[in-house]
Amino acid sequence: MALLKRKFDAVIVGGGGSGLRAALQLSEAGLKCAVLSKVFPTRSHTVAAQGGIGASLGNMGEDNWLWHMYDTVKGSDYLGDQDAIEFMCRMAPQVVYELEHFGMPFDRNEDGTIYQRPFGGHSQNFGERPVQRSCCAADRTGHAMLHTLYQCNIRAQTQFFVEWMALDLILDQEGHVLGVTALEMETGDVIILQARATLFATGGAGRVYAASTNAFINTGDGLGMAARAGIPLEDMEFWQFHPTGVAGAGVLITEGVRGEGGYLLNKNGERFMERYAPTMKDLASRDVVARAVATEIKEGRGAGKDGDYILLKLDHLGPEVIEKRLPGIREIAKKFANVDPVTDPIPVVPTCHYQMGGIPTNYHGQVVVPKGENPETPVAGFYAAGECACCSIHGANRLGTNSLTDLLVFGKAAGDHMVQFLKENTNHKDLPKNAGEHTLARLARLENQKNGENVYTVATDMRKTMQAHCGVFRFPELLVDGVKKIREIAGRAKHTEIKDKSKVFNTARIEALELDNLIEVAVATLVSAEARKESRGAHDRADYHKRDDANWMKHTLYYNAVNRISYKPVHLKPLSVETFEPKARVY
Ligand code: FUM
Repeated sequence: MALLKRKFDAVIVGGGGSGLRAALQLSEAGLKCAVLSKVFPTRSHTVAAQGGIGASLGNMGEDNWLWHMYDTVKGSDYLGDQDAIEFMCRMAPQVVYELEHFGMPFDRNEDGTIYQRPFGGHSQNFGERPVQRSCCAADRTGHAMLHTLYQCNIRAQTQFFVEWMALDLILDQEGHVLGVTALEMETGDVIILQARATLFATGGAGRVYAASTNAFINTGDGLGMAARAGIPLEDMEFWQFHPTGVAGAGVLITEGVRGEGGYLLNKNGERFMERYAPTMKDLASRDVVARAVATEIKEGRGAGKDGDYILLKLDHLGPEVIEKRLPGIREIAKKFANVDPVTDPIPVVPTCHYQMGGIPTNYHGQVVVPKGENPETPVAGFYAAGECACCSIHGANRLGTNSLTDLLVFGKAAGDHMVQFLKENTNHKDLPKNAGEHTLARLARLENQKNGENVYTVATDMRKTMQAHCGVFRFPELLVDGVKKIREIAGRAKHTEIKDKSKVFNTARIEALELDNLIEVAVATLVSAEARKESRGAHDRADYHKRDDANWMKHTLYYNAVNRISYKPVHLKPLSVETFEPKARVY
């Protein structure tokens, strides 16, 4: 069956921060740019970003991009690529000022400059003391940012496909990317969106874990599509657990609470972070704080009748500060924890929040794969940015606020590179004869499956397996067993059945297609985690307690399609400054 086609200069899959920022570059350059999104763009998961954007504006005290770079390299546990990190930290102030000029309603200081708050792992003078670097709009920064970028795109005449889900990449014989197949959720119709350049900005895959701060839409769609097309996934063993998700609900309580002066207490009322990170305390790097919280709970110092959470105290900030700087947190705490933080502490636990790994890219946003001697050969016409991409600025652990910096800087960089690429590649290539067949086969399988398992049952087993076998602390037997279990679940996912075959807004079909993507992420995560025999950043193994730079200063590449793992070197050399040499990481 020949599928209907629509042609664009560029197609962007995902309407969050990085997708919208890239689209703006393309549309303003006069190119015909389509953005495809499962939800209305301003409901993309960027909307949930609370605490701010990291940029060394220096509005609240001395700061500079080199300190930001040092903090990011150290935060990454030295696995981050230092050329990309330098690029990001140098560009950060510029993209924040651009956003300000686009109309972003930042919080302000008395003198009209952008207000900045402290955040975990960000410091002055190479780790000496906390710095105020996070540019914020109260605790609703992502919300303000998405609305700003969406409005700019409307002005620039970006074309939106709202409630559309991309299903598969289309490549030709030479491996050039020529667009995607996509499903309109309202009608169930499938078409080909043909493009001379394609960007994945599909966000994260946090819904692969049972307890997650992520939106339900975060199902790793870009990673699934890339993996099915034979592209490796990079560093998937590194998942960030945010120290302060609401216990039992998973909803994020921003690190900005601690930035504004809140702190963590165990059941004895002890400010335990002083023991784990004597200098930075509650503002240590996120992996350090998450492990400290998990350790307090594990060792019996958790609060509550089951001792299974920690307390986040902020009442001492007073109602004015809470209302002015953290109004969203007060609302979340009341709704999801039934406490008013003006008077009572919030019960919190480490909760899956962010994937450091993803589709391998360089700092121009080009997707890169090993080919011959070159471990980073660009895939023609294919780009990725934001959480779905691995650039790698976050290495083994991302610093809070650097996700928004990442998507602004690399969304823009990818957009710029695509504009250039489109200037040099003016004609659409012919689609292969079998374009879309793979997608139609996947849909036909769902249509025709008899006596298959329920999607929800398989997805629940996947999430429980991830939670139990690949969490904050990792154990050798659990990892080995986890790989076995997840492969068995992946097999079951190939035989799921949807009872409701109607096409109109068929959420059962969408969930089945999302599960295909999540499973790719789950397998890549467990296999990569089992293989990495060291502890680094967010990957903490009980049998290999230490970081092992001699053997493991390298990025993992996992090819799901052929079950093969390989490695590539970390870029230790920055663009213009000296390398930050790996050393012990203390806060
Ligand atoms: O804590 C937060 O507001 C989260 C920020 C981030 O993930 O960067």
